[in-house]
Amino acid sequence: MSNTSVPDIRRPKTRAGARIALVSLTAAALAAGAALTVATSANAGTTLGASAAERGRYFGAAVAANKLSDSAYTTILNREFNSVTPENEMKIDATEPQQGQFNFTNADRIVSHARSRGMQVRGHTLAWHSQQPGWMQNMSGAALRTAMLNHVTQVATHYRGQVVAWDVVNEAFADGNGGARRDSNLQRTGNDWIEAAFRAARAADPAAKLCYNDYNTDNWTWDKTQAVYRMVQDFKQRGVPIDCVGLQSHFNSGSPYPSNYRTTLSSFAALGVDVQITELDIEGSGTTQANTYRNVVNDCLAVARCTGITVWGIRDTDSWRASGTPLLFDGSGNKKPAYDAVLSALNNGAGPNPTTTPPGPNPTTTPPGPNPTTTPPPAGAGCTASVSLNSWSAGFVATVRVTAGSSGTSGWTVSLTLPSGATVTNSWNTSASGTSGAVRFSNATHNGRIAAGQSTEFGFQGTGSASSLTPTCTAS
Ligand code: G3I
Repeated sequence: MSNTSVPDIRRPKTRAGARIALVSLTAAALAAGAALTVATSANAGTTLGASAAERGRYFGAAVAANKLSDSAYTTILNREFNSVTPENEMKIDATEPQQGQFNFTNADRIVSHARSRGMQVRGHTLAWHSQQPGWMQNMSGAALRTAMLNHVTQVATHYRGQVVAWDVVNEAFADGNGGARRDSNLQRTGNDWIEAAFRAARAADPAAKLCYNDYNTDNWTWDKTQAVYRMVQDFKQRGVPIDCVGLQSHFNSGSPYPSNYRTTLSSFAALGVDVQITELDIEGSGTTQANTYRNVVNDCLAVARCTGITVWGIRDTDSWRASGTPLLFDGSGNKKPAYDAVLSALNNGAGPNPTTTPPGPNPTTTPPGPNPTTTPPPAGAGCTASVSLNSWSAGFVATVRVTAGSSGTSGWTVSLTLPSGATVTNSWNTSASGTSGAVRFSNATHNGRIAAGQSTEFGFQGTGSASSLTPTCTAS
């Protein structure tokens, strides 16, 4: 099974060189996809991560902290992958087992293992109906909304600068129910819980890409796919901070790889978000499994904004669906035909920057809708502030953007007056004084210094209603 015969031929300096080498492939070899296990491209990479990187993408794996002491496991991880997703260790039950008491031990181990070896980290996941700790399962309404937002804020803040992309919200849509939202305690806090989570994540880690992640969203014609598409389209139009869509892509006979998968990827991408294949596994074996893996990789390579692929585990025996042998390495760590197909596709597959978008049933253009977080250009010295409000029946989250004027700032204070009945309960990236009426928010230690014309964001959350707020900003 192992593809140890792949020649380690140095790649030419230009992609044109690679193309010339590809021309030497026979038509028969191209037609017999599986025959491409012997890489014939002059720029063949020899590991999944290196080959994906040559195409401007990452290739990652879900990793379990308790396997980091298994040297057979880490040998493959360290050799093949350049991105890591903690399989369970960043979930709510793992990171906040008791309300307000955070435990990052196992997640930190994975993050440290990855980053010390130059791998990037995808965060999974901040808000989910499943794997909630008992205390959260028992909550509802405004208290749950507040607890959820606090969890998002605390975890995203802990990993600020270390996680390149977050699955902010996971699996919020129902299966086969006309594209309805999944019923859950989070959903029952109000339909806007998803956007509230995204705003809190943005405020906590402005540099991380924020993704919505789900399964059974691979087939473009399925109601659930269309429902997620409409949500992302709506978020983009209203300026809700979303940067990417994660397609989990757990394929088996009940949920097979769809022939319109590329249309799904390109249609989401056309909304102006990255697309990531976040939890790929394909049950099966041999050539059939290998061919499906190849199709998935080629589909991603054909969509410029498909930025990377993560497989949900390393060896078949590491998989949540171990009996379906859905991964790229067998239980002994040997490369399977599926591995060879993926590597071959990464080295030889479709071009990296296609400009065409396959047609889909929905329009794929993004209307130039107003962005509620737009900040007026800085005028003179000092600073300006603008507020973006996300309100629900019993509360609100305010995201405040502070923009430095022509002199930059070494510190700042934003003042505003809350309407009667509104009370600040929580804030982040700021030092707050006052909870009602006239309140002030000063910079935290890390975000006081803003270069001329640049911005930073902080946020606060409250109970009651804050229909409109007029902030004033003072720079020091
Ligand atoms: O670690 C304990 C162990 O101590 C205990 O003896 C054992 C008894 O059941 O449980 C172990 O924990 C299990 C954990 O996996 C680690 O293996 C949990 O019970 C089990 O529920 C958990 O399953 C995880 C599942 O999410 C939970 O929903 C899988 O590992 C994980 O692969 C899976 O990942 C999800 C993604 O997060 C979201 N998309 C679907 C995907 C597959 O279900």
